[in-house]
Amino acid sequence: MIHALQEAADYIRDQMNHQYEPEFGIVLGTGLGGLVEELEIRHSLSYADIPHFPVSTVESHSGKLIFGDLGGRRVMVMQGRFHYYEGYSMEQVVFPVRVMKLLGIKRLFVSNAAGGLHPAFKTSDLMVITDHINLQPTNPLIGRNIDDLGPRFPDMSEPYEEHMIQQALNISEHHRLNLKSGVYASVPGPMLETKAEYHYLRTIGADAVGMSTVPEVIAAVHMGLPCFAVSVITDLCVPGKIKKVILKDILDAAAKAEPALTVLFKELIKVQE
Ligand code: HPA
Repeated sequence: MIHALQEAADYIRDQMNHQYEPEFGIVLGTGLGGLVEELEIRHSLSYADIPHFPVSTVESHSGKLIFGDLGGRRVMVMQGRFHYYEGYSMEQVVFPVRVMKLLGIKRLFVSNAAGGLHPAFKTSDLMVITDHINLQPTNPLIGRNIDDLGPRFPDMSEPYEEHMIQQALNISEHHRLNLKSGVYASVPGPMLETKAEYHYLRTIGADAVGMSTVPEVIAAVHMGLPCFAVSVITDLCVPGKIKKVILKDILDAAAKAEPALTVLFKELIKVQE
Protein backbone atom coordinates (compact mmCIF):
# COMPACT_ATOMS: atom_id res chain seq x y z
CA MET A 1 0.00 0.00 0.00
CA ILE A 2 2.66 2.48 1.02
CA HIS A 3 4.55 1.62 -2.20
CA ALA A 4 1.52 2.34 -4.35
CA LEU A 5 1.13 5.69 -2.56
CA GLN A 6 4.78 6.50 -3.12
CA GLU A 7 4.61 5.54 -6.79
CA ALA A 8 1.62 7.83 -7.29
CA ALA A 9 3.37 10.69 -5.44
CA ASP A 10 6.61 10.14 -7.42
CA TYR A 11 4.71 10.18 -10.72
CA ILE A 12 3.01 13.46 -9.78
CA ARG A 13 6.30 15.07 -8.74
CA ASP A 14 7.91 13.96 -12.01
CA GLN A 15 5.05 15.41 -14.03
CA MET A 16 5.67 18.74 -12.34
CA ASN A 17 9.45 18.54 -12.78
CA HIS A 18 9.72 18.75 -8.99
CA GLN A 19 8.84 22.44 -9.34
CA TYR A 20 5.68 22.77 -7.30
CA GLU A 21 5.21 21.84 -3.66
CA PRO A 22 1.62 22.27 -2.50
CA GLU A 23 1.01 23.70 0.99
CA PHE A 24 -2.65 22.74 1.22
CA GLY A 25 -4.99 20.10 -0.17
CA ILE A 26 -8.59 20.74 -1.19
CA VAL A 27 -11.28 18.16 -1.93
CA LEU A 28 -14.27 19.53 -3.82
CA GLY A 29 -17.69 17.95 -3.40
CA THR A 30 -20.63 17.33 -5.71
CA GLY A 31 -21.37 20.39 -7.86
CA LEU A 32 -18.64 22.38 -6.11
CA GLY A 33 -15.86 22.26 -8.71
CA GLY A 34 -16.08 25.98 -9.48
CA LEU A 35 -13.40 27.04 -7.00
CA VAL A 36 -11.00 25.95 -9.70
CA GLU A 37 -11.95 29.07 -11.72
CA GLU A 38 -10.22 31.10 -9.00
CA LEU A 39 -6.98 29.18 -9.30
CA GLU A 40 -3.94 30.27 -11.16
CA ILE A 41 -3.38 26.81 -12.56
CA ARG A 42 0.18 25.46 -12.80
CA HIS A 43 -0.46 21.80 -13.58
CA SER A 44 -3.46 19.61 -14.18
CA LEU A 45 -3.39 15.81 -14.17
CA SER A 46 -6.17 13.36 -14.99
CA TYR A 47 -6.79 10.76 -12.31
CA ALA A 48 -6.69 8.15 -15.09
CA ASP A 49 -3.00 8.89 -15.77
CA ILE A 50 -1.79 8.61 -12.16
CA PRO A 51 -0.57 5.14 -11.14
CA HIS A 52 -2.90 3.35 -8.70
CA PHE A 53 -5.37 6.25 -8.65
CA PRO A 54 -9.02 5.20 -8.72
CA VAL A 55 -11.04 6.67 -11.59
CA SER A 56 -14.24 8.61 -10.93
CA THR A 57 -17.51 7.08 -12.13
CA VAL A 58 -20.00 9.81 -11.21
CA GLU A 59 -20.93 12.18 -14.02
CA SER A 60 -21.00 15.21 -11.77
CA HIS A 61 -17.36 14.65 -10.76
CA SER A 62 -14.71 15.38 -13.35
CA GLY A 63 -11.66 13.52 -12.02
CA LYS A 64 -8.71 15.87 -12.13
CA LEU A 65 -5.90 16.79 -9.81
CA ILE A 66 -5.19 20.48 -10.22
CA PHE A 67 -2.17 22.35 -8.87
CA GLY A 68 -2.21 26.11 -8.65
CA ASP A 69 -2.16 29.28 -6.58
CA LEU A 70 -5.18 30.37 -4.56
CA GLY A 71 -5.02 33.62 -2.64
CA GLY A 72 -1.25 33.59 -3.12
CA ARG A 73 -0.81 30.11 -1.62
CA ARG A 74 0.12 26.84 -3.30
CA VAL A 75 -2.74 24.36 -3.32
CA MET A 76 -3.63 21.06 -4.90
CA VAL A 77 -7.28 20.43 -5.64
CA MET A 78 -9.11 17.18 -6.15
CA GLN A 79 -11.82 18.01 -8.63
CA GLY A 80 -13.99 14.96 -8.07
CA ARG A 81 -13.72 12.51 -5.22
CA PHE A 82 -14.41 8.83 -4.68
CA HIS A 83 -17.36 7.51 -2.74
CA TYR A 84 -17.84 4.17 -1.06
CA TYR A 85 -21.21 3.79 -2.85
CA GLU A 86 -19.42 3.71 -6.20
CA GLY A 87 -17.98 0.35 -5.22
CA TYR A 88 -14.50 1.50 -4.22
CA SER A 89 -12.87 0.12 -1.12
CA MET A 90 -12.26 2.61 1.70
CA GLU A 91 -8.53 2.35 0.88
CA GLN A 92 -9.32 3.57 -2.64
CA VAL A 93 -11.61 6.32 -1.35
CA VAL A 94 -8.80 7.82 0.74
CA PHE A 95 -5.91 7.03 -1.59
CA PRO A 96 -5.70 10.59 -3.01
CA VAL A 97 -5.72 12.18 0.44
CA ARG A 98 -2.82 9.98 1.47
CA VAL A 99 -0.96 10.92 -1.70
CA MET A 100 -1.56 14.61 -0.93
CA LYS A 101 0.07 14.12 2.44
CA LEU A 102 3.09 12.43 0.83
CA LEU A 103 3.31 15.44 -1.50
CA GLY A 104 3.73 17.65 1.55
CA ILE A 105 0.39 19.35 2.23
CA LYS A 106 0.08 20.78 5.74
CA ARG A 107 -3.70 21.09 5.93
CA LEU A 108 -6.74 19.55 4.28
CA PHE A 109 -9.87 21.47 3.20
CA VAL A 110 -12.97 19.52 2.25
CA SER A 111 -16.40 20.41 0.88
CA ASN A 112 -19.49 18.32 0.31
CA ALA A 113 -23.17 18.51 -0.55
CA ALA A 114 -25.40 17.48 2.32
CA GLY A 115 -28.97 17.28 3.48
CA GLY A 116 -29.88 19.74 6.25
CA LEU A 117 -31.28 18.23 9.45
CA HIS A 118 -31.11 21.33 11.66
CA PRO A 119 -34.54 23.05 11.56
CA ALA A 120 -33.01 26.52 11.08
CA PHE A 121 -31.01 25.59 7.96
CA LYS A 122 -32.02 26.81 4.51
CA THR A 123 -31.13 25.49 1.08
CA SER A 124 -27.68 26.69 -0.08
CA ASP A 125 -26.55 27.49 3.48
CA LEU A 126 -22.94 26.66 4.31
CA MET A 127 -22.29 24.62 7.45
CA VAL A 128 -18.81 24.38 8.87
CA ILE A 129 -18.39 20.87 10.23
CA THR A 130 -17.45 20.93 13.91
CA ASP A 131 -17.62 17.16 14.46
CA HIS A 132 -18.86 14.03 12.73
CA ILE A 133 -20.68 10.74 13.20
CA ASN A 134 -19.38 7.91 11.07
CA LEU A 135 -22.25 5.71 9.89
CA GLN A 136 -20.34 4.24 6.97
CA PRO A 137 -20.22 0.43 7.18
CA THR A 138 -16.43 0.49 7.43
CA ASN A 139 -13.51 2.90 7.56
CA PRO A 140 -10.10 3.26 5.92
CA LEU A 141 -8.10 2.26 8.99
CA ILE A 142 -9.52 -1.27 9.22
CA GLY A 143 -6.84 -3.86 8.58
CA ARG A 144 -3.13 -3.87 9.27
CA ASN A 145 -2.00 -0.41 10.38
CA ILE A 146 0.39 1.42 8.05
CA ASP A 147 2.78 2.63 10.75
CA ASP A 148 4.54 4.89 8.24
CA LEU A 149 1.32 6.89 7.95
CA GLY A 150 0.12 7.04 11.54
CA PRO A 151 -0.73 5.23 14.77
CA ARG A 152 -2.95 2.18 15.26
CA PHE A 153 -5.44 4.04 17.46
CA PRO A 154 -5.60 7.66 16.30
CA ASP A 155 -7.30 10.16 18.60
CA MET A 156 -10.58 11.59 17.22
CA SER A 157 -11.41 14.14 19.91
CA GLU A 158 -10.87 17.08 17.51
CA PRO A 159 -11.01 15.87 13.90
CA TYR A 160 -11.79 19.40 12.67
CA GLU A 161 -9.25 21.90 13.93
CA GLU A 162 -10.86 24.33 16.37
CA HIS A 163 -8.59 27.18 15.32
CA MET A 164 -9.63 26.96 11.65
CA ILE A 165 -13.31 26.74 12.66
CA GLN A 166 -12.90 30.02 14.56
CA GLN A 167 -11.06 31.62 11.66
CA ALA A 168 -13.89 30.54 9.34
CA LEU A 169 -16.54 32.05 11.61
CA ASN A 170 -14.58 35.31 11.69
CA ILE A 171 -14.30 35.32 7.90
CA SER A 172 -18.03 34.62 7.68
CA GLU A 173 -18.79 37.65 9.80
CA HIS A 174 -16.48 39.90 7.85
CA HIS A 175 -17.76 38.76 4.44
CA ARG A 176 -21.37 38.18 5.56
CA LEU A 177 -21.38 34.53 4.54
CA ASN A 178 -23.94 33.56 7.20
CA LEU A 179 -21.94 30.43 7.98
CA LYS A 180 -23.73 27.84 10.11
CA SER A 181 -21.94 25.16 12.11
CA GLY A 182 -22.81 21.65 13.17
CA VAL A 183 -22.29 17.91 13.19
CA TYR A 184 -22.09 15.94 9.93
CA ALA A 185 -23.26 12.35 9.71
CA SER A 186 -21.73 10.26 6.94
CA VAL A 187 -23.90 7.48 5.50
CA PRO A 188 -23.08 5.05 2.69
CA GLY A 189 -25.92 5.98 0.28
CA PRO A 190 -26.43 6.05 -2.63
CA MET A 191 -30.13 6.34 -1.88
CA LEU A 192 -31.20 9.37 0.10
CA GLU A 193 -32.83 8.75 3.48
CA THR A 194 -36.38 7.89 4.45
CA LYS A 195 -38.25 10.31 6.70
CA ALA A 196 -37.73 7.88 9.60
CA GLU A 197 -33.98 7.83 8.90
CA TYR A 198 -33.80 11.64 8.87
CA HIS A 199 -35.61 11.64 12.20
CA TYR A 200 -33.14 9.08 13.54
CA LEU A 201 -30.13 11.10 12.32
CA ARG A 202 -31.46 14.26 13.96
CA THR A 203 -32.12 12.35 17.18
CA ILE A 204 -28.56 11.05 17.41
CA GLY A 205 -27.19 14.58 17.08
CA ALA A 206 -26.55 15.27 13.41
CA ASP A 207 -27.17 18.67 11.77
CA ALA A 208 -26.41 17.53 8.22
CA VAL A 209 -26.12 14.22 6.38
CA GLY A 210 -24.08 13.22 3.36
CA MET A 211 -22.21 10.36 1.74
CA SER A 212 -18.59 11.45 1.93
CA THR A 213 -15.92 13.41 3.82
CA VAL A 214 -15.63 11.30 6.96
CA PRO A 215 -13.46 8.56 5.38
CA GLU A 216 -11.06 11.21 4.04
CA VAL A 217 -10.99 13.05 7.36
CA ILE A 218 -10.31 9.82 9.27
CA ALA A 219 -7.37 9.07 6.95
CA ALA A 220 -6.11 12.65 7.30
CA VAL A 221 -6.35 12.68 11.10
CA HIS A 222 -4.54 9.33 11.15
CA MET A 223 -1.65 11.06 9.35
CA GLY A 224 -1.74 14.07 11.66
CA LEU A 225 -3.18 16.44 9.04
CA PRO A 226 -5.38 19.23 10.44
CA CYS A 227 -8.75 19.28 8.65
CA PHE A 228 -11.39 21.84 7.84
CA ALA A 229 -14.68 20.84 6.20
CA VAL A 230 -17.84 22.55 5.00
CA SER A 231 -21.20 21.15 3.94
CA VAL A 232 -23.35 22.93 1.42
CA ILE A 233 -26.94 22.29 2.41
CA THR A 234 -28.62 21.16 -0.80
CA ASP A 235 -31.96 19.88 0.52
CA LEU A 236 -33.95 20.11 3.73
CA CYS A 237 -34.54 16.97 5.76
CA VAL A 238 -36.76 18.46 8.45
CA PRO A 239 -40.35 17.25 9.04
CA GLY A 240 -42.72 19.31 6.87
CA LYS A 241 -39.91 20.42 4.51
CA ILE A 242 -38.94 17.07 3.02
CA LYS A 243 -39.49 16.91 -0.73
CA LYS A 244 -38.56 14.40 -3.41
CA VAL A 245 -34.95 15.18 -4.37
CA ILE A 246 -33.28 14.71 -7.74
CA LEU A 247 -29.60 15.25 -8.55
CA LYS A 248 -30.40 18.45 -10.48
CA ASP A 249 -31.85 20.08 -7.35
CA ILE A 250 -28.70 19.18 -5.44
CA LEU A 251 -26.47 20.59 -8.19
CA ASP A 252 -28.56 23.79 -8.46
CA ALA A 253 -28.40 24.38 -4.70
CA ALA A 254 -24.65 23.70 -4.69
CA ALA A 255 -24.12 26.12 -7.61
CA LYS A 256 -25.94 28.85 -5.70
CA ALA A 257 -23.71 28.39 -2.66
CA GLU A 258 -20.50 28.12 -4.59
CA PRO A 259 -19.47 31.81 -4.61
CA ALA A 260 -19.69 31.95 -0.80
CA LEU A 261 -17.80 28.68 -0.46
CA THR A 262 -15.07 29.97 -2.75
CA VAL A 263 -14.68 33.15 -0.68
CA LEU A 264 -14.53 31.09 2.51
CA PHE A 265 -11.87 28.68 1.27
CA LYS A 266 -9.79 31.40 -0.35
CA GLU A 267 -9.83 33.69 2.69
CA LEU A 268 -9.22 30.83 5.09
CA ILE A 269 -6.27 29.55 3.09
CA LYS A 270 -4.80 33.07 2.91
CA VAL A 271 -4.59 33.35 6.70
CA GLN A 272 -2.92 30.00 7.37
CA GLU A 273 0.66 30.06 8.65
N1 HPA B 1 -28.82 12.72 2.31
C1 HPA B 1 -27.65 12.18 2.06
N2 HPA B 1 -26.76 12.73 1.27
C2 HPA B 1 -27.06 13.90 0.70
C3 HPA B 1 -28.28 14.52 0.93
C4 HPA B 1 -29.22 13.90 1.77
O1 HPA B 1 -30.33 14.39 2.00
N3 HPA B 1 -28.27 15.68 0.20
C5 HPA B 1 -27.08 15.74 -0.41
N4 HPA B 1 -26.34 14.67 -0.12
